[in-house]
Amino acid sequence: MRVPHDDGSGSGSGSGSPKRGRKPAAKVDSLVDGRAGTVDSRSDGRTPRSAPEIVLPGKPQVPERDLVTGARQGGEPEPPNLRPQRFSEYIGQAALKRKLEVFVRAARARGEPLDHTLLHGPPGLGKTTMAHILAHELGVKLHLTSGPAIEHKGVLAGHLTALGARDVLFIDEIHRLSPTVEESLYSAMEDRRIDLPVGEGTRARTIGFELAPFTLLGATTRTALLSGPLRDRFQILEGIEFYGDDELAAIVLRTAGLLGFAITPEAALEIGRRSRGTPRIANRLTRRVRDFAQVADEARAEMRRIEFVDANRALKELGIDEAGLDALDRRMLTMILDNFRGGPVGVDAIAASLGEPRDTLEGVVEPFLLQRGFLLRTHRGRMATVKAARHLNLELPPTAQAELDL
Ligand SMILES: Nc1ncnc2c1ncn2[C@@H]1O[C@H](COP(=O)(O)OP(=O)(O)OP(=O)(O)O)[C@@H](O)[C@H]1O
Ligand SMILES: [Mg+2]
Repeated sequence: MRVPHDDGSGSGSGSGSPKRGRKPAAKVDSLVDGRAGTVDSRSDGRTPRSAPEIVLPGKPQVPERDLVTGARQGGEPEPPNLRPQRFSEYIGQAALKRKLEVFVRAARARGEPLDHTLLHGPPGLGKTTMAHILAHELGVKLHLTSGPAIEHKGVLAGHLTALGARDVLFIDEIHRLSPTVEESLYSAMEDRRIDLPVGEGTRARTIGFELAPFTLLGATTRTALLSGPLRDRFQILEGIEFYGDDELAAIVLRTAGLLGFAITPEAALEIGRRSRGTPRIANRLTRRVRDFAQVADEARAEMRRIEFVDANRALKELGIDEAGLDALDRRMLTMILDNFRGGPVGVDAIAASLGEPRDTLEGVVEPFLLQRGFLLRTHRGRMATVKAARHLNLELPPTAQAELDL
């Protein structure tokens, strides 16, 4: 499904001139025509079932953690058939889906690109998946890259000048763009131009390249790290929220179906409930639960349906407790309660005590603990809540209790 790289030479017809050899301020439409046939742009819902053409991502490695992290683990394959390709297959996020469907339909009807869009939310909630869906539903090509992979202006220019009319350029981890690259992106987003320096010394000058109308689709797990000027240049800003238990159960059932095994709704719900509100974790746990059930039944010729008890037993073995917390979640809360008298305590102190990078705590661990009411973020630091203390069978120190009562 993924093609290694878009070199713009798809069909060989038309003026397939190499992108670097193009004249300054040249219109790129002629290049676009050559591949207009690769994706269907009909708006009647009868679009083909094939995925849109995709340009290879420079996906950076995410720091490894336990099984229960929303972040992609190094080398973990993302089975392509699990990724929903259409709005109708994307489970949950009803409000977000409704809005994006309207924006896509309106843009298509006008024959315009979708406005520049920023998706934000914790890892594994479906930002990249939504990028695939948006390109598919818009009937255009998706070009994937990421903030750290765009090392300098030239790389950005390469991506931008390869875009066809209305194509989507997806920049994952957009908060990690360097300031100079980010600045070049401003004129690309606003005026569809990119200025590139050519020559050296006294002969140095800049050449402006005109770009095809395109959509910049940014994704970030850390909106707070995004600069104001960049954020302001997006016309659509949407957050992806943690999923509800029922939605995750539906994702587990779908995944089991796609992987070809049967699971009861009760077992699916139990996996969903303990997946930290995150589809990627739900998918991962579904596979692990299947492993346990399969090995337990090795003697049988055919695998039986996975029941609640199978799911429960496997999740326990995996160290995921009733509330869906894993070892690091529990260590963090225990540390705050035991060593810092329940807080408030700064995140750096917690990170140092746990020997975990601050980024992991802020980006992966905390969002879920905050959302589920195990942790509070105050201006003086993090605090464990009564709920956390009860869950871990620990006392909430009186000073922390007093703070919480304020
Ligand atoms: N709404 C959904 N319905 C069904 N499956 C989903 C949904 N959202 C995500 N998934 C599944 O979860 C996996 C992770 O999603 P995705 O890669 O889109 O997350 P992400 O937000 O881009 O994460 P990261 O921040 O790490 O890049 C996908 O492979 C997909 O199979
Ligand atoms: Mg992603």
